[in-house]
Amino acid sequence: MHKALSIIHEEHRSLSAVLSGLCELAHMARSSKVRPQFEVFHAMLYYIDSFPEREHHPKEDTFLFARLLQRDSDARDLIDTLRAEHVKGAALVRNLERSLNEFELVWPDGKEAFEAAAKAYAQFHWNHMRKEENDLLPRAEAAFSQADWRDMEAAFSINTEPLNDLRHTDFKNLFQRILNLAPAPVGLGDAWVDPAGKPA
Ligand SMILES: [Fe+2]
Ligand SMILES: [Fe+2]
Repeated sequence: MHKALSIIHEEHRSLSAVLSGLCELAHMARSSKVRPQFEVFHAMLYYIDSFPEREHHPKEDTFLFARLLQRDSDARDLIDTLRAEHVKGAALVRNLERSLNEFELVWPDGKEAFEAAAKAYAQFHWNHMRKEENDLLPRAEAAFSQADWRDMEAAFSINTEPLNDLRHTDFKNLFQRILNLAPAPVGLGDAWVDPAGKPA
């Protein structure tokens, strides 16, 4: 497999794992009688906002989609759809952040709304990634030359976002931090307990 394809698949798997964890914890929070540790939710939102929204999608737009349009003009409708989903995804992240902040303020109210927002965002993103993997990447494999793949590898091997200057290792550390904060069965963190030490 071309290195750029491996990177894209790996980035999808990492995001997918965080989305699964987010849904699982939002569900736990819904049935929890004690206050959730909101830090893990904020770490997950920070990951979702920093990595796919500011790194992965912009690189797809700028390099992968643009090059495929040059090589395969029949891919235009698919690319237009995926680009529109990137824009929509950015708006959905803002909704999710608002929903989390509100949940934290009004807890124990807001459980259902937060779980619904988390599920909606995750489902949206899983559908998007499936479309890329099943429909777009095979077209790129058929249309790209070795030189195209070398360009993709160069583009996807670095993180280009100048605002946060995060590197892949930082995202790996952040991913590990999420695992360390999240209680079982999502991660390795402590169970949520009330001030008297009673578990959720
Ligand atoms: Fe995408
Ligand atoms: Fe993607």
